[in-house]
Amino acid sequence: MSKKKSALDGITPFVYGTTRLGDDKIPRSERLKTAHAAMDSGVWFHTSRAYGDALEVLGTAFAEDPQKIPKLIIKIGWENINQLRGVAEENLKPLGLNGMQLGQLCLGGELAEDFANGGNCYKVFQQLKDEGLLQGYVVEVFPWTSAAPLKALRAGYTKGIVEGFIFYLNPLQRFASNELWNEIIDRNEPIIAMRTVSGGNIFKLRDVPGYAWKEYLQKRAAEAVPVFEKSGIKSWTEFCVRFAYSFPQVKATVGSTAKIENLNEFLSAKDKIKPLPKSVIKEIETLHYKWSDELDIHAEPWTM
Ligand SMILES: NC(=O)c1ccc[n+]([C@@H]2O[C@H](COP(=O)([O-])OP(=O)(O)OC[C@H]3O[C@@H](n4cnc5c(N)ncnc54)[C@H](OP(=O)(O)O)[C@@H]3O)[C@@H](O)[C@H]2O)c1
Repeated sequence: MSKKKSALDGITPFVYGTTRLGDDKIPRSERLKTAHAAMDSGVWFHTSRAYGDALEVLGTAFAEDPQKIPKLIIKIGWENINQLRGVAEENLKPLGLNGMQLGQLCLGGELAEDFANGGNCYKVFQQLKDEGLLQGYVVEVFPWTSAAPLKALRAGYTKGIVEGFIFYLNPLQRFASNELWNEIIDRNEPIIAMRTVSGGNIFKLRDVPGYAWKEYLQKRAAEAVPVFEKSGIKSWTEFCVRFAYSFPQVKATVGSTAKIENLNEFLSAKDKIKPLPKSVIKEIETLHYKWSDELDIHAEPWTM
């Protein structure tokens, strides 16, 4: 029997995240160069209206080289079903496009409720897909938004419409609650892992005051350094890309950079993907379960 087609088919193992293209401290011409280098590499892109003027930078790059426009994962949401189309269009317009590959469903308020209870949102999802606004959906998960996807997944509502789950999954963060994570793994649901290098080099995260955007990440870096060092792997980027690919459910890892040399590091790491040794994964997984229980699920939304 042939495998059912999915909008995730053909996703590139490394997806270029575009947060850094929206950093206005970097000259626009440099950001455009990096956007073109990522387009030349043929990887899929991840973007959002929330990343400064990243959409405008991308719109320029796409107009300059329309043959190389990548497949896109774009954040859409937020609180109710009537917002979905408008949010999608608000993102597509500056890009000069009519459709995206994957809509990343960001579920809040009424929309999350409706999603958890198999409501009308599923009809709207299908409509937007039938219209070609997007080819499929992945659901965004945070520790504080894990309950609705967990309920919907268990009830079977996501079948046939949701292609997988997208959340921070890197050595220092696993942003699905322990319960949802176990369910995703048991059901072999596809995952898109975000924030490949956990926000930067692990030694800088541990040692440079203020480099980690929150204190908990600095502490986690300190706990994870011994595991990284014991692995004998020299490059943090390689370690992180291999970490993501140690889970067969992971279809892609999303990392961002404004620098061509760091882009090249991501691209060369994804060319030699090999899962990390089981003992290394076990140590990090133990930390993830502990961090999730200790901190993540108690965190106020958007504080970490
Ligand atoms: N809710 C969401 O949907 C959500 C939330 C967060 C992130 N994301 C997606 O995931 C992407 C990645 O997330 P992120 O940018 O937060 O995390 P990340 O990719 O783990 O980290 C990016 C940071 O690491 C630095 N970096 C990249 N490569 C490096 C290397 N080889 N050595 C040292 N530093 C390196 C970058 O700086 P330079 O630019 O100087 O290289 C940048 O400051 C985003 O662009 C976005 O598309 C989505």
